[in-house]
Amino acid sequence: MIYFVTSNKGKFVEAQAIFGDLVQKNIGYNELQVDTLEEVVDFGMEEVMARLKGSVMIEDAGMFIDCVKGFPGVYSAYVQKTIGNSGILRLMEGTDNRGAAFKSVVGYAEPGMEPVVFKGELKGDIGFEPRGTGGFGYDPIFYVNGKSLAEMSLEEKNRISHRAGSMKALKQWLESRR
Ligand code: IMP
Repeated sequence: MIYFVTSNKGKFVEAQAIFGDLVQKNIGYNELQVDTLEEVVDFGMEEVMARLKGSVMIEDAGMFIDCVKGFPGVYSAYVQKTIGNSGILRLMEGTDNRGAAFKSVVGYAEPGMEPVVFKGELKGDIGFEPRGTGGFGYDPIFYVNGKSLAEMSLEEKNRISHRAGSMKALKQWLESRR
């Protein structure tokens, strides 16, 4: 049994579809203002390992938009809370260079073990309007092959997503140790 430390229900549902046996722990941890998702996960792992006795997993994700040099990146949660999807669409008015990527970094450890880290990435583009009602966060404005992530079922998103990439890599690693 693994504790997934997150306050995000959408993330938890996606992760549970991959791992099955997961328990959500909404205990929070400091997301230090650092430059990379990897650093957020490294610091976060230290903190949750000190506070939870058991197998723990955390995940940090962000959206990186090409034409603004990777913004909002590690600031994705703050930007989602403040200007939101409509703010991102406004920021991109008048540009046809709409390439973007989602990145996910997952950390996992058991007591007495150094954390392991796995990454996933999904390339796509920022649409011209929000579409769909599924998923969470930036899903309605992030398109892959003409379809927004919010228009996909959980299974469809989990076939291609950044989070599925990092978490399936962790799952494989766990299975390879058996
Ligand atoms: P964090 O990993 O919880 O820090 O997420 C950063 C921000 O990106 C939050 O505002 C999330 O809502 C958003 N986000 C993370 N993963 C996804 C995703 O799969 N789809 C859409 N938005 C996401």
